[in-house]
Amino acid sequence: MGARLGFVKEITLPQIHDPRGDLTFVEGGNHLPFDIARVYYLYNVPVDAERGGHAHKELEQVIFALSGSFRVRTDDGKTKSDFWLRDPRKGLHVSKLVWREMDCFSQGAVCMVLASRPYDEDDYFRDYKDFLKAATT
Ligand code: TYD
Repeated sequence: MGARLGFVKEITLPQIHDPRGDLTFVEGGNHLPFDIARVYYLYNVPVDAERGGHAHKELEQVIFALSGSFRVRTDDGKTKSDFWLRDPRKGLHVSKLVWREMDCFSQGAVCMVLASRPYDEDDYFRDYKDFLKAATT
């Protein structure tokens, strides 16, 4: 039981510090353990909005707060965790089979996601019970 549990891991990207401004970069397959197939970002998020509310069957992704902050609540079917993202260098690597919910967005927050696959609605678990069944059996 539980052989398919997903995982969540914090990663820190390199930073080139400069009085003219800091620079951070990311290379798929190097700083991330997968090739980047898609990048998307959330912005103009109302401070009381809740995003996420799903898990993925195969896709994995790394979530960043490029600006501002927000909370990511994760659940691998066994363990629930809360992460606050607020540093553009620090990402949250969320594997497949992890339920995630995002809320507490600060005014003007920008959330960037690097994903291992193109968008595919068939890769989503949008029903918590379906996710739990897949993750725990
Ligand atoms: P969803 O993944 O549910 O957003 P979030 O997890 O941030 O709350 O996607 C919201 C809508 O956008 C949904 O109708 C699918 C669509 N969408 C795309 O068309 N392409 C994409 O790359 C993503 C991430 C979502």
